[in-house]
Amino acid sequence: MTAPPASAGAPAAPGPLRVVLGVGAGIAAYKVCELLRLLTESGHRVRVIPTAASLHFVGAATWEALSGAPATEDVFADVHEVPHVRIGRDADLVVVAPATADLLAKAAHGRADDLLTSTLLTARCPVLFAPAMHTEMWEHPATVANVVTLRSRGALVMEPDEGRLTGADSGKGRLPEPVQIFDLARLVARRGRAGLEPDLAGRHVVVSAGGTREYLDPVRYLGNRSSGRQGYALASTAAARGAVVTVLAANVALPDPAGVDVVRVETTAELREQVLGAAVDADVVVMAAAPADFRPRTTSGVKIKRAPDGSAPDIALTQNPDILTELVVSRAGKRPVVVGFAAETGDGTASVEEHGRAKLARKGCDLLVVNDVSAGAVFGQPDTAALILDADGSRTSVPVGPKEDLADTVWDLVARRLGDC
Ligand code: CTP
Repeated sequence: MTAPPASAGAPAAPGPLRVVLGVGAGIAAYKVCELLRLLTESGHRVRVIPTAASLHFVGAATWEALSGAPATEDVFADVHEVPHVRIGRDADLVVVAPATADLLAKAAHGRADDLLTSTLLTARCPVLFAPAMHTEMWEHPATVANVVTLRSRGALVMEPDEGRLTGADSGKGRLPEPVQIFDLARLVARRGRAGLEPDLAGRHVVVSAGGTREYLDPVRYLGNRSSGRQGYALASTAAARGAVVTVLAANVALPDPAGVDVVRVETTAELREQVLGAAVDADVVVMAAAPADFRPRTTSGVKIKRAPDGSAPDIALTQNPDILTELVVSRAGKRPVVVGFAAETGDGTASVEEHGRAKLARKGCDLLVVNDVSAGAVFGQPDTAALILDADGSRTSVPVGPKEDLADTVWDLVARRLGDC
């Protein structure tokens, strides 16, 4: 066997970080306690800097107890240590949540009238804003302009979620879920400041996620164990890199990724229709979903009853279309870039990589992400390792780490291809 061509490794996940967690004056501050826990439980050292007004929502005692560090908004506390300069300079990552309209405005205009805004001016590390406010405030031209300014300076400003706001009203403006902010924070820290360039801006990417269900009758189905976690990690990572993202979610029970259009499907037939439709104006399609390969030949319109004689029904199956192959065959030229996934085990005939290469050739896609499942399944786990095979013959090995890291490496390879075509 010849040696495989150019092998690249993905950058390592970040070790313990010094994180500044800025807290703005929004009711969503209570959700940030959960974010703080996620950060500290991962071993990061977190310094919480609340604004004075935010202490109406969550008090300093809560932040100090959860972080194990002082939590003051006051620039004049411990002046001899010059905290308004030192904290920002020493930070590896600044996360502001909830980032209110007022905080975004202050940050965009370089105000420095408290410890948090001063820290934002002295920090030279990546900065992530997770906004939360009423829809009218988010959509106001002043806020829109402030967000544009912050993004143009390299800060990552998440899109708020849609849903129930403080009172009975609902709309865009909810704080993204703590785990979404946490996942993105880890990604941002790993990529560093330069990595915050929105290199997928203006690109439309379509990601399928989850596992399809094929119904036997109104209550029973054939399904699989795919959780949709990897697909959602791909979606949130692409959105963070500036892409317009459509997720085709097959029976996924996870919170929607922030700033992403989610279309729900159940069966392989529905997924096929959505994939082929969305692919028409897509730059990239990633098939991270696990479509069922077979479906019952017939679906009963009524619940199948137990037979009194104890016999079980014979279920005849028929094969589902292969969406990935159909997509590759139907595309015009090199667009969209098509990425497939494969879970493989080595056997007497070939290694995992050899099976992956054969599948890549068979399916005709541009990249194939191969998970080695010989040692057990990866379904539903937060971490994974993979080998990404490129149709140009190269390979990229991604060590065990969060699914966002694998997603990020997939987007690196896709961005390179988009640049070439
Ligand atoms: N896929 C698809 N349509 C299907 C089955 C799979 O588009 N009906 C896609 C998956 O989303 C994945 C890729 O094809 O990106 C590979 O899936 P896999 O199940 O490994 O492919 P199969 O052709 O079913 O291969 P195997 O016989 O090894 O199961």
